[in-house]
Amino acid sequence: MSGQVRETRLGVALAATVVAGTALLAGAQTPPSQNGPGAAPAAAPKTAGEAFKNVRVLKDIPADQLIPTMQFISASLGVECNYCHVQGAFEKDDRKPKQAARTMIRMVAAIDKDNFDGDRDVTCFTCHRGAAKPVAIPAITAEEAKPAAEGPAAPALPSPDQVLAKYAQAVGAEALEKVTSRVQRGRLLGFGGREMPIEVFAKAPDKRLSVMQTPRGEMITAFDGSRGWLTGREGPQPMSAAETEAARLDADLRFPLHVKQLFTALAVRPSETIDGRDAVLLVARNEGQPPLKLYFDAQTGLLLREERYADTALGYLPTRIDYADYRDVDGVKVAFRWTLARPGGRFTIQVDSTEQNVPVDDAKFAMPAPPPKPAG
Ligand code: HEC
Ligand code: HEC
Repeated sequence: MSGQVRETRLGVALAATVVAGTALLAGAQTPPSQNGPGAAPAAAPKTAGEAFKNVRVLKDIPADQLIPTMQFISASLGVECNYCHVQGAFEKDDRKPKQAARTMIRMVAAIDKDNFDGDRDVTCFTCHRGAAKPVAIPAITAEEAKPAAEGPAAPALPSPDQVLAKYAQAVGAEALEKVTSRVQRGRLLGFGGREMPIEVFAKAPDKRLSVMQTPRGEMITAFDGSRGWLTGREGPQPMSAAETEAARLDADLRFPLHVKQLFTALAVRPSETIDGRDAVLLVARNEGQPPLKLYFDAQTGLLLREERYADTALGYLPTRIDYADYRDVDGVKVAFRWTLARPGGRFTIQVDSTEQNVPVDDAKFAMPAPPPKPAG
């Protein structure tokens, strides 16, 4: 079967942008990585207990899950890092909420172990719902109770094959097969009305690189066909294993044609409407990984929304990408705008120009050598 999403490319562009954006959204609060550019990417992954100074409860999780886990906590409580941490000294236990959080992490693990077969069914968010202090008393409704609506019976859902076939057709499968590269130039809008120029280079089958000009300098996220890398404050560095997997999907220029191959299980589920449009939800899974949710426009068949999850020690951290402004480029439908949202914020990328089948050198996607590690 051929094709689905033309916007795969988009997806790709997104992917790179997802990671860059994530870094941006985490922004000033992110402490320097403990796995700096000097660290050998292939070495046995460190545990959080080894990589950080004072991690006592989460000590056995992979070191690169520590920060996403912290983001999960912040998002669940609706607070910033400094609610629990002293700036510049994350290892210190000076703040009471940090000590409370340690107790809570143990409590949640016990609740899930004793009652939910160890699955992460109860998380910080279950009780906190975006507040530092959970509400204990049921709310009194502000309105009169409405009679339960007896809606019409839900329409039968299409099969995954039908959804993907429609997607492929909507995107322009045949034209997509002929696309060898895509270069998009545009602007990132967000962060208090600021605009930053962004360029996304993609090359079939699976290379992708995005460059954003930020006030702090150039920010690159890339996938070179086998591994992902990005530039942080400390220069180029390899992505974590989880980021690389996400970047790999995003880098698949013909993702819309490959959805079936990329996942071992696909299921169609009832969907809410998105921006007033009826949608079809396709849940794609691979064993042992968080699901990817793809929402298609029930009418046009194009991808409206994508929801992906970063696995953290305490639960899934969601990222949502909404696609819009689809335009025809060489017979392929390409989204010219996408909005990336996470619990901590959002930004939009507006593409001004898209060129396809232009030469892009393979060398562009390779990670430059990291700067020499400072002594000490
Ligand atoms: C609700 C409290 C809370 C919030 C909010 C929070 N943390 Fe933490 N953080 C903790 C606790 C508790 C630990 C120690 C965990 C342990 O001992 O297993 C920790 C440990 C850390 C460490 C390890 C420091 C070291 O060297 O020992 C880092 C780094 C860190 N957090 C970063 C962050 C960042 C970045 C954010 C914001 C995205 C954040 N934290 C938000 C509670 C919090
Ligand atoms: C079963 C419900 C529940 C779960 C799950 C839960 N909490 Fe709590 N948490 C509470 C309650 C209740 C309080 C006390 C609030 C108060 O003092 O009014 C609290 C208080 C806290 C506080 C202190 C807030 C303050 O400023 O006094 C922190 C920090 C906290 N929780 C972090 C977490 C973290 C992190 C997780 C996930 C690992 C978590 N909680 C999971 C119920 C929960």
